[in-house]
Amino acid sequence: MTAGSAVTHADPSHRPVLWTQVMDALRVRSDGRYLDGTYGRGGHARGVLERLGPAGRLLVMDKDPVAIANAQALAASDARVAVRRGSFADLGAWDETAAGLDGVLLDLGVSSPQLDEAARGFSFRNDGPLDMRMDNESGESAAQWLARADEREIADVLWTYGEEKLSRKIARGLVAARQQAPITRTAQLAELIASMVGRGAGKIHPATRSFQAIRIFINRELDDLGRGLDAALARLKPGGRLAVISFHSGEDRIVKQFIAARARPPAGNRRLPVAIEFTPTLREIDGAQRADDAEVEANPRSRSAVLRVAEKLEVAA
Ligand SMILES: C[S@@+](CC[C@H](N)C(=O)[O-])C[C@H]1O[C@@H](n2cnc3c(N)ncnc32)[C@H](O)[C@@H]1O
Repeated sequence: MTAGSAVTHADPSHRPVLWTQVMDALRVRSDGRYLDGTYGRGGHARGVLERLGPAGRLLVMDKDPVAIANAQALAASDARVAVRRGSFADLGAWDETAAGLDGVLLDLGVSSPQLDEAARGFSFRNDGPLDMRMDNESGESAAQWLARADEREIADVLWTYGEEKLSRKIARGLVAARQQAPITRTAQLAELIASMVGRGAGKIHPATRSFQAIRIFINRELDDLGRGLDAALARLKPGGRLAVISFHSGEDRIVKQFIAARARPPAGNRRLPVAIEFTPTLREIDGAQRADDAEVEANPRSRSAVLRVAEKLEVAA
């Protein structure tokens, strides 16, 4: 664990995003085996534990060393909990999952503590080193990547993961700016972007999309999501539930298409009247679920949260 990342015990009063909907979706059985692939502050995990009996098991994962230290403290006092540090993309490699799972929860993106702690370098509001790694003990930081990537690569990342329309202009400006001085601080990057694109009259900071894009790229978030969904489906038992909370359209599109492709036959082609054999492996539950007004008021971050739920079907071998 790095300096400044002391273990802070999860705040029991913290209600995570879409908590009630997630608990309804998982339908926790008292003797079931569940995996929370994004432990964070453990809010959802605590809800699962409250519903599990003594024979139940809760497996938790996170990439973040602070989240894992908190999860380990929980596991030390609750024998039903097992912890593994790493990406949920690799959940299938954990022997604890081999017996099959009754439910998998992925609450994607960054946690509030990650955003709030300036030293983690995710936030343009709290100045800190330009890091942005969920696992800040391995891989390349945002500052290291911005120091070496060429203009085209930077523009592609801003466009692909942030849908930033001014991606080329920003990339050109960043490459010019780093020739004067390395870009190493979050406030410095935010200010550079604002100076290139103007502050505009919009509600969001002009660097919002770029920060999101760089974070998704640095943490390989969409790649992990695709692999994690495949791994979860492979480990779910028939009747097991998959619940995924997304925070932006790129993530939600992947989850929506993953479920749709396994729950519904592909649309027919009028010019090719060939019967397509299709055996569904998932049943979609309830479509897209969002936070209600009261939750959005209490927790503005829940405004962009979308929960999708699916149940694994019994499929003849
Ligand atoms: C939105 S928070 C989860 C909050 C949590 N549900 C709670 O109740 O406190 C997302 C967490 O997932 C972790 N995370 C994001 N992507 C991950 C991945 N691919 N594998 C493992 N952990 C990941 C982040 O480090 C962060 O701690």
